Parts: sequence; C-alpha cells; structure tokens
Amino acid sequence: MDFNLTEEQQMIQQAARDFAQAELLPGVIERDDQQKFPHDAVKKMGEMGFLGMMVDPKYGGAGLDSVSYVLAMEEIAKVDASAAVVMSVNNSLVCAGLEKFCNEEQKMKYLKPLASGEVIGAFALSEPEAGSDATSQSTTAEDKGDYYLLNGTKNWITNGGNATYYIVIAQTNPEKKHKGINAFIVEKGWEGFVVGKKEDKLGIRGSDTHSLMFTDVKVPKENRIGEDGFGFNFAMAVLNGGRIGIASQALGIASGAYELSLKYAKERKSFGTEIINHQAIAFKLADMHTSIMAARMLIYKAAAEKDEGKDISESGAMAKLYASQVAMDTTIEAVQIHGGYGYVKEYHVERMMRDAKITQIYEGTSEIQKIVISRSIAKK
Ligand code: CAA
Repeated sequence: MDFNLTEEQQMIQQAARDFAQAELLPGVIERDDQQKFPHDAVKKMGEMGFLGMMVDPKYGGAGLDSVSYVLAMEEIAKVDASAAVVMSVNNSLVCAGLEKFCNEEQKMKYLKPLASGEVIGAFALSEPEAGSDATSQSTTAEDKGDYYLLNGTKNWITNGGNATYYIVIAQTNPEKKHKGINAFIVEKGWEGFVVGKKEDKLGIRGSDTHSLMFTDVKVPKENRIGEDGFGFNFAMAVLNGGRIGIASQALGIASGAYELSLKYAKERKSFGTEIINHQAIAFKLADMHTSIMAARMLIYKAAAEKDEGKDISESGAMAKLYASQVAMDTTIEAVQIHGGYGYVKEYHVERMMRDAKITQIYEGTSEIQKIVISRSIAKK
C-alpha cells in the first residue's frame, strides 16, 4: 500500500491549485450572487486539459489517471464548486461514457471536441417524475427505422444551457422496462430541441441548470450509444464513475471551508486569545480535519480501483455518501466558527454551506448511495 502521490500527480494538484487561485477566486462571490457561468475559466480549464482529464490523447484528452482527476477536482471545488461541477459532468458523465461505450466514429465526432474543451457536454437522465427512480423514464425515443423520434422533458440538467452535445436517456420499448431504454447523443440546435428555464438555485449558482424539451426531435440511428436497450446499463455504469467526481467536489468544498476556518481561528481573538486556543473551536477543527482525511482516503481508494479496472459501484457510492456528509457537516461548522462573519458573503463559507447541499442530492441522493452499498454487501 502506497499513500504517496507520484510526481506527476503532485504537479497536476499544484497546477489545479494555482489555476483556482488565479482564475476562479476572483469573481467567485459575484458569479454566485448573479448566477454567472464562469465562461472564461471553463475555456481555460479546457486548454489546460481539465475537461477531458482521463481521455486518451488521440481523442483530445489529457490521458491522466483517475487519481489525478480527483486531485484536480478537489482543488477546483475548494475555491469554486460551480466550476467543479461543470468539470465533473464533462469528465465523468460525458467524456468517460463516450470513451468507454461509443464507436470510433462517435468518438471522433463528439468525444474529441468535448475532451479538448472546445465544447462542453451535459448528461440528461433526470425527469420531472424520474429522479432517483431512474428506470421510470417518460421521455420516449420511438424507433422510426433510420432515426428515433425523441419526445419528452428532462429536468435539473447541469450545463443544460451551455452544452453543445447532450447525452439523453429515453424509453424506446416500455414493455422491456429498463432493457427498453436507450442513450443518445443529441446536438444543440436540432429541430424540436428547446433549452428550457434556468433554475434559480440555493447553491452552485455559477453553474447553469436547465430543463430540456424535446418535441419530435429526429435523432439519427448512428447517434444511439451501444446496442438497442443498453441505455439504462450505460447510465448506471457512467454514474458509478460520476460519483467519484461528485465525492471529490464535496471533498473540495469541505477542505476549502476547513482551511478558511483554520486561518480565521488563528487570527481572530476573543476572551484575550486567538479562538483556536478555545477547545470549543479547536475540537471542531480536529473533527473537520479527521473527517476530511477519511473522506479523502475513500475517494483515493475508489479512484485507484477505477484505474485498476475494478467494479467501483460500491467504493464510489461509499466515497460520495461519506464525502457529501462531511461537506455538509464541515461547512455548517465553518459558518459557526466564523460567527457573524460566517453569515456574510465576503467570507466564502456561507456559499460553501449552500454549495455543499447539492452533493447529497445529485448523481444519486445519499439514500440512493445506501441502496447501492447495501445491495453490494448483500451479494457478498
Ligand atoms: N452499477 C452498474 N449497474 C447497475 C448499478 C450500478 N451501480 N445499479 C443498477 N445497475 C444495473 C443492474 O445490474 C441491472 O442490470 P441488469 O438488468 O442488466 O442485470 C439494472 O441496472 C437495473 O437494476 P435494478 O433493478 O437494481 O434497478 P432499480 O430500478 O432498482 O434502480 C438504482 C437502481 C440504483 C436505484 C438506480 O435507479 C439509480 O442509481 N438511481 C439514481 C439515479 C441517479 O443517480 N440520478 C442522477 C442523475 S445525473 C445527475 O445528477 C448529473 C448532474 O446533474 C450532476
């Protein structure tokens, strides 16, 4: 067992840290306040290889391992959780799914621009009445011979407004239940495809979350991913990897809040001493530090297992379940340590507390992670 990062992994971590300080920190409060997408930073993230980190360079990616990816994700999320979710969706849900399951033609056409950051992608599974219960898709893709006719509505789609390419999950054959579901690559601008309203969210307000409407959209047959009926298994496989990305986002939010709290506790004085000298504060910091390290270990383990080609459904769900709880607990305590300052925007931790909550909801709620974990242990 080796807990040391390689030289390359340390370089990626440092590059992401420097990038976050230089490009994301300035304006993060304003973007949150005004719900502004970090266009310039996302463009630069693409140039740095952060949007297709694990993709083979022949498809426009950086060709790095999953451990490097989670290191970079943590550093980005520490400063701007909104930029981190753009990165996570593009890497883990869109690029990873296309690289693993698409044919050569689809990869050259769609993966290359997505992995190089020329454009960004979105993953459209959730519907107004199908969030956790993902098999209950009411979006339909009727087989018309050369093409599918896509009809329905998707909800809460990250990158919904700014994406160029969308992976859309839809039901083709309802009698076959989840074996009748397909996944398609859909392009923005196709007739009948409308990007709906932007959600006004509690947190990750710099990322854009939209509904998507499809009315008789003709999707060429060559845009189906995999064999007929593979869509649900595709989505589940992709989400297993996605959960490591969101776990890293949660870790970044937690470690960002912890670092700010530690600094504040060493500077702020009350009752004649720096507040870190009061056990009430010091014990909170000790708990934060310990749980953050435990979350990090779960994430590194899941990422390392992914690189070894192991089944990561259980380890990814455990990492996400735990890291998202740590993000929530840590940010609440970070606000408490900061007192009145913690409740105002300037000190960042109130935003982090709002950003943390979504990590317990998207890519499977905490309850869904427990379903995945408990089913996995029951099989052993
Ligand atoms: N990994 C691989 N395969 C899996 C799987 C997993 N974790 N979970 C289920 N499957 C497979 C099963 O093996 C089965 O396949 P076969 O029939 O080929 O054997 C198939 O999926 C159906 O399995 P179940 O009968 O167990 O399905 P279920 O209806 O009980 O649901 C579930 C399983 C785990 C609850 C699943 O519905 C689920 O993960 N729901 C949550 C969906 C989710 O995460 N949505 C997030 C949307 S994306 C998002 O949030 C992105 C964003 O914006 C950031």
